[in-house]
Amino acid sequence: MTRVRALLGAAATAWIAVASVAALHARGAAPAAQGALPDGEGRAVVEKLCSACHGLDYLSPSRRTVRNWLETIDLMKSFGAEATDEQWRTITDYIVGTLAYLHVNKGAADEFARLLRIDDKAAEAVVAYREKQGGFKTLDDLKKAPGVDAARVDAVKDRLMFE
Ligand code: HEC
Repeated sequence: MTRVRALLGAAATAWIAVASVAALHARGAAPAAQGALPDGEGRAVVEKLCSACHGLDYLSPSRRTVRNWLETIDLMKSFGAEATDEQWRTITDYIVGTLAYLHVNKGAADEFARLLRIDDKAAEAVVAYREKQGGFKTLDDLKKAPGVDAARVDAVKDRLMFE
């Protein structure tokens, strides 16, 4: 009986070890501290104002698109989150700039504008170019679009979805 328990114990320990390694891998290159937000201008404002009702872990890496995030931010306003207009701009720029994803073959012009930091007219030209080309297959295809800053594309490449 003792031996069975010992075996079960060993199996459980091994399982826990495997499970936690898997969890670490699943988090990939996520910041070491759980729930820590990526560096970026505005992080302090987000940390202060977005932790008033729930943990900052609500913001941690997820595949929310630019559109999803804009909607989530509006939802937080409707839940009573309070900030000045300038703070809302800072919060939105930080979240879109550091956390939001973009479906490059489905995304709307305003999502391109926000993520790639180009003006609305340039973003519309990118979408028109995409339609003309029959979509973007690679990062380089996107970099060739008119008005796109290749360095910015590289900076956000982990959040660009081609499927
Ligand atoms: C006034 C309180 C309040 C503040 C301040 C607040 N939230 Fe929330 N947040 C909520 C509530 C309520 C929910 C939904 C209930 C829950 O899941 O706990 C929520 C849920 C969320 C979710 C999960 C939504 C989902 O679709 O699952 C995210 C992401 C989020 N908040 C982000 C933010 C961000 C970013 C800020 C800062 C701009 C913020 N919250 C500030 C109240 C707040």
